Amino acid sequence: MTAPASVPEIRKGLAGVVVDTTAISKVNPETNSLLYRGYPVQQLAATKRFEEVAYLLWHGELPDAAQLAEFRAAERAGRALQPNVKAAIDLLPTTAHPMDVVRTAVSVIGASDPTTDDASREANLAKSMSLFAALPAIVAYDQRRRRGEDLVPPRDDLDYSANFLHMSFGEVPEQVVVDAFDVSMILYAEHSFNASTFTARVITSTLSDLYSAVTGAIGALKGPLHGGANEAVMRIFDEIGEAENVVPWLDAALAEKRKIMGFGHRVYKNGDSRVPTMKASLDTLIAYYDRPDLAELYDTLSGEFVERKGIHPNLDYPSGPAYHLMGYDTETFTPLFVASRVTGWTAHIIEQAASNALIRPLSHYDGVDERSV
Ligand code: ACO
Repeated sequence: MTAPASVPEIRKGLAGVVVDTTAISKVNPETNSLLYRGYPVQQLAATKRFEEVAYLLWHGELPDAAQLAEFRAAERAGRALQPNVKAAIDLLPTTAHPMDVVRTAVSVIGASDPTTDDASREANLAKSMSLFAALPAIVAYDQRRRRGEDLVPPRDDLDYSANFLHMSFGEVPEQVVVDAFDVSMILYAEHSFNASTFTARVITSTLSDLYSAVTGAIGALKGPLHGGANEAVMRIFDEIGEAENVVPWLDAALAEKRKIMGFGHRVYKNGDSRVPTMKASLDTLIAYYDRPDLAELYDTLSGEFVERKGIHPNLDYPSGPAYHLMGYDTETFTPLFVASRVTGWTAHIIEQAASNALIRPLSHYDGVDERSV
């Protein structure tokens, strides 16, 4: 962008600005790849469980058998919904958006933890584990209470994803569903300096605490230009109804200059590296639940939109309908993203704290000239 001589170059939205280094993940739009600590996310999704990926993000290496057993034991020990967190959730109306509920619950956990202001790596890892372990109960319980259902206690004999689904629905679905859920958790876990992660790093850079940083990140993720898009995708599907309505719906939406949620990305311009893996899981779910109508709607909308605008689906496009098929309410989709991304956020909080500089950019003033009162 060429600017008048007196105006410094301004990168709206920090587009294209490199603000720091990170060793956690690498997004490469040229090769359409995403690495977590050096490992392609597709390989992790195909061979590892979400707990192993969480360990990798925090510690830099995949766990060996003993490390994984210890990690899983810690996660299982923190699964139960704490009475003060449940009481706080119960104070909120069932009409509250679940992202507001999750944000409040994390805030309550922070306010109740005597180690909140201990920013050592050990204390932050312990807090990260407590949020990682607690979030499934929070997300599951909030959906259940909105449905007029009771809290389901955790099951210690289940892995993370199977237990999450059990606490959500009161039963463990077939392995094919658990696997698709686990893949979604792995794919959502980390994506470098996205808006919510950057929010967490900004908060950490002031020497504020991990819970404050995660609470802020949840606020950033809620917006439909970021995590809120997975919910918005399903609302679009509901609006369109069936594949034969796609063309007139899209004609009208584009004429109104509407953003089509689940498409486009700040970094990837030729397709999101995570989409093929999540689409494969969605296809499995579509076959399992026998919903060829949903597949047709999905393919017709993406085919038409890519052809007309050259803008590709992002991860929220396949994950929204996948969560719908699993039985989640549409407004619960973004809290599921929170449960996963908390691993990436906390890895970044720990990285930021280890090599901190206050994040404080400049602005160019373009208001009225100086004047007297
Ligand atoms: N629907 C319609 N038009 C779009 C879309 C879309 N989804 N995405 C981009 N465009 C258009 C813009 O209108 C703009 O057109 P113009 O130049 O004629 O004004 C052009 O493409 C560039 O778009 P920007 O919004 O300026 O690009 P940016 O890099 O800021 O956008 C963003 C990235 C915000 C994700 C955008 O693509 C978008 O709003 N998508 C929909 C929301 C969404 O799906 N978000 C999820 C992101 S991924 C994640 O959080 C997992």
